[in-house]
Amino acid sequence: MSSNSPQPAATTPAPAKPPFVKGLAGVVAAQTAISHVDGPNSTLIYRGININDLVAQATYEEVAYLVLFGTLPNASQLAEFDAKLKANRDLPQAITAWLYTLPKETVPMEVLRTAVSMMAHYEDDVQSISIDSTIAKAIRLTAQLTTLCAAYQRIREGKAPIAPNADLSHSANMLYMLNGQVPSKDLEVAMSAYFVLLADHSLNASTFTARVIASTQADLHSSISGALAALKGPLHGGANEATMNTLLEIGEPDNVDPWVDNAFATKRLIMGFGHRIYKNGDPRARVLTRLADEIGRKVGMDKYAKMSHMVEKAVQRHRELYPNVDFYSASLLYCLGIPIDLFTPMFACSRIIGWSAHVIEQYKDSVLIRPAAEYVGRLGESYTAIENR
Ligand SMILES: CC(C)(COP(=O)(O)OP(=O)(O)OC[C@H]1O[C@@H](n2cnc3c(N)ncnc32)[C@H](O)[C@@H]1OP(=O)(O)O)[C@@H](O)C(=O)NCCC(=O)NCCS
Repeated sequence: MSSNSPQPAATTPAPAKPPFVKGLAGVVAAQTAISHVDGPNSTLIYRGININDLVAQATYEEVAYLVLFGTLPNASQLAEFDAKLKANRDLPQAITAWLYTLPKETVPMEVLRTAVSMMAHYEDDVQSISIDSTIAKAIRLTAQLTTLCAAYQRIREGKAPIAPNADLSHSANMLYMLNGQVPSKDLEVAMSAYFVLLADHSLNASTFTARVIASTQADLHSSISGALAALKGPLHGGANEATMNTLLEIGEPDNVDPWVDNAFATKRLIMGFGHRIYKNGDPRARVLTRLADEIGRKVGMDKYAKMSHMVEKAVQRHRELYPNVDFYSASLLYCLGIPIDLFTPMFACSRIIGWSAHVIEQYKDSVLIRPAAEYVGRLGESYTAIENR
């Protein structure tokens, strides 16, 4: 080509189109040092420590500290953290008064979601996203969430809320505020173990929601309100309630096999089974199986744990599908005397600490989360005047 020939216009190659991944499955959308969900090995790690070690040896308070601050507390750090949790258990008086105004059929998860948003109005430092302020608010919300659950439960039963008892641990106090009796050590340990197992789980739907909100530099209460809304759905935290309703619907051990056969024949989703990441089994479910068996026996209500084992076996006959965290949580929480529609709020009472740690991690990361979408709608349409439509 001579130098006088017209040169082809320089074209910039179109940037490679990132692949569309439905449901963001397998997409790595954040880096985190809080928890590691190792699907192939069915392992869950908080800040480097296997949950099996934590649930066997640590209280929820220790694990909450670990998740929030990154290291296990020494004795004085734990005492200080515990004292802060205890000192922050009370609800703003206006929130308790508001609980009395709610229609009795209001679902507790909705109460939690609205209450956390309202509690922002009673925080001096609500707008701050400084790390210190967010930690202080996270500790207060962690303490208040249990009081909120118990107070609403009592009020809708027509009873007066029970004031928190500063002599009791986070877990024992939760059960105490619900029914007015200091729980036995077995029940306290089981409640604490449940809280330990649910404290964090990497970038699940509610945590992702919290991080997206935090990435806009909105405050902690905004992030947690959004996380609660995401947790409510039956494909996420709501699965524990749906599982218990399934067990009650099955009713008797003799009904398990026909019920499961029918569920597969009619392509019905069996709540508490399957997981986006743990395809070989959920490590939390293994611990919860043991706890549900033990507590069921101790309180003389092992029917539902036994039926859960039968459902698990029946499901396995159809396909390789394992119980997830919510499956044995259901019979465990039921035996702990928790009303069914408080199961997901119990999940939230634990996960609040994980959400808070992720919000802080996201503030430190300081990047707006804003993915792209593939447009599949029409192009080139013209505007039609309203009288011509
Ligand atoms: C958790 C869940 C949303 C994961 O979904 P996912 O990663 O998208 O997995 P998929 O839906 O692709 O499941 C793979 C296959 O197993 C089946 N499957 C998954 N969970 C199932 C369940 N609980 N009951 C019956 N079949 C199920 C799916 O129908 C699908 O079948 P196919 O291959 O014939 O289409 C899903 O397992 C579910 O809905 N479980 C019930 C709700 C629940 O317990 N949620 C709590 C999660 S901790």
